[in-house]
Amino acid sequence: MQQQIYHLVSSNALYSKIIVLFFVLMCVVKRSNSFDYFKEKPSFIKSCKLSQPDLTKCSTEALQKMIKEVIKGVPEFRDVIGSLDPLVLKDIAFKQDGAEAVNILIGLSTLIVKDLSKVQVLENRVQRNDFSFLLKMRMPELRLTGHYKLDGRILLLSLKTEEDVHITTLIKTDLFARDGYTFYNVTKVQNDINIGKLQAQFDNLFGGRNKELEQSILTTINENWREFFEVLRPSTTTVVDQITFDLLHKICLLIPAKYFLEDIPTPKQSHENISPNTL
Ligand SMILES: *[C@@H]1O[C@H](CO)[C@@H](O)[C@H](O)[C@H]1NC(C)=O
Repeated sequence: MQQQIYHLVSSNALYSKIIVLFFVLMCVVKRSNSFDYFKEKPSFIKSCKLSQPDLTKCSTEALQKMIKEVIKGVPEFRDVIGSLDPLVLKDIAFKQDGAEAVNILIGLSTLIVKDLSKVQVLENRVQRNDFSFLLKMRMPELRLTGHYKLDGRILLLSLKTEEDVHITTLIKTDLFARDGYTFYNVTKVQNDINIGKLQAQFDNLFGGRNKELEQSILTTINENWREFFEVLRPSTTTVVDQITFDLLHKICLLIPAKYFLEDIPTPKQSHENISPNTL
């Protein structure tokens, strides 16, 4: 931990690095090892069919179940995605141009995001034509604790949302074949993030030397959280997109697509625009 703290990323705006992490579905990515992919359907997956009329309902339930189990911990995923609740993020690289929103420049090292397990999947709509997904999710509460560096001192920051966070995610995929299985190749992830109230708490911002200034900075941030968030939205979204892309891309390489959708066509059938059930 200490080691990490001294390993700070370059100075950037405090909020640009922090707010983003609220919405992050994801992870410190590590090397995959011996586990290749699931050769049998894992118990944390509920299968659906493209042909079923209530596909959206089925895939919504399926995703909710999967998220719960994955956050609890799937042994085969552990080496690939690590723990998700709490989610520990290290050395976040985050670029924000025009950091005028907050004139405190800091480096942020380790962040702990809690309560991702409370995510609720409102809808998971599978597009039958191109196998992309449109997700709607809600997070009732997120708490985040981060260490950051200011004037050479290591400080603690906590943030929490006080109303729901809503995220809409578009996931684009291609299909590819491997060993006779069809897999998803996640090609694009786009998030739209809407937060409810956001509140910050610093610990000893000026080493306790200037409580008044500390309080006034906090009050400014907390009263104007929406403006801060809007300024930082583009870069926040970019980082969340990157992190969720990495996570989903990796997970999809571990799970043959037919465990999600039993009647998914092969890439060849798909390119010829034939669904197996209509043959
Ligand atoms: C997945 O998609 C990327 C970008 O579209 C491509 O470069 C890569 O080769 C694809 N992987 C497979 C296994 O098809």
